[in-house]
Order: sequence, then structure tokens, then C-alpha cells
Amino acid sequence: MTNDVDRNRRQFLTVATSVVGGIGVAAFAAPFVLSLRPSAKARVAGAPVEVDVSKLTDGERVSLEWRGQPVTVIRRAQEVIDKLPEIRDRLRDPDSDEPQQPDYARNEHRSIKPEFLVMVDVCTHLGCAPSYRPEIGDPRLGSDWPGGFNCACHGSRFDLAGRVYQGVPANLNMVIPPHRYKDDTTVVIGEDEEEA
Ligand code: FES
Repeated sequence: MTNDVDRNRRQFLTVATSVVGGIGVAAFAAPFVLSLRPSAKARVAGAPVEVDVSKLTDGERVSLEWRGQPVTVIRRAQEVIDKLPEIRDRLRDPDSDEPQQPDYARNEHRSIKPEFLVMVDVCTHLGCAPSYRPEIGDPRLGSDWPGGFNCACHGSRFDLAGRVYQGVPANLNMVIPPHRYKDDTTVVIGEDEEEA
């Protein structure tokens, strides 16, 4: 278990970010591991971070740090989006009733644009980094696994919208941070539309 946990923590890929005038610009990373963080000053200030998602293909993700937290942006295929309603009976909070997201992300896909999930990459049980397991029927997780996140620390599972399953240690959906789109393919994390 310890090795699994350590590996799980290492799986978080910190993305290159450069800070310009208080706003960090994160380069496209997935599936490559890049590591460049906002300046210490920007981190303390909690500066918004810009992420270019134009090169993400279906299933790929880019990870970055915002306010000291790992945040992941995943591009979901249309078939993934279409399947999100199908597993709601297996979820604890399928309608996002708990305040784990801004109001504009309180929907079936928990995002502004269905194809992009923007999420704090931290398990809501005790804070481990869940593994991204997008493969349907992943043999490690069972033939009925529809793709999602698995936390190796104590076995919590989440779907591809970060919604927690029933019967696992975590009892809250993963957190959706405030975010907005600066243009079609640039996400600003840490800033709502009305704050821009
Ligand atoms: S920290 Fe994820 S299941 Fe406990």
C-alpha cells in the first residue's frame, strides 16, 4: 500500500507556468512531464493561472499548480460526456448538491464546457492524489469501471466529472475551482467570469 501511495503522489505532473504581470501562463504538458511553477510571490498571492488547452486531445490532461494545490484539466471525448448520466445511481452526490463547485459548474459534467473538466486533483477523503484511470473496464478496477479516478490510499473512486462513488471513504465530490475561458482554448484558473 505504501508504495502505491508514493507512486500515486508522484503521478501528479506539475506543469510549466510562467508568470506575467500576476497571471501565470501554463504551457501544454500532457502527456509529458514538465515542471515549472509560478513564482513564490505569485503562489502566495494566489494569482490566477492561464492554461492553453488547444493541443489536448480526447483523454489527455494538463496538470498545474494553483494556490499550492494540484489542478488538472482533462479533455473528455463526446462518448465520455454521453456516459456521465448513466452511472448516477452509483454516485453519492450525482447532482452536485454539496458546494464543491461554483454554480456554473453545478451540472452533469461539472464544468463550463462539457469537453473540459477543470478540477482540483485532491481526494476529498484525506488529501491523496487520485490516479487518473480513463480506460473503460480497466482490469485494475473491474469490468464495470466506466473511467474515472481511483485513490490508492484508501480506495475512494470518482467518475470523470470528479463525482464520488457510494460506499467509499470519501463522501464529497472533488473540488471544481473558479475558472473562466479567456478565449476558446485558454482557461484562467482562479478567476470567475464576473471577476475578469
Ligand atoms: S485519501 Fe483518498 S481514499 Fe483516503
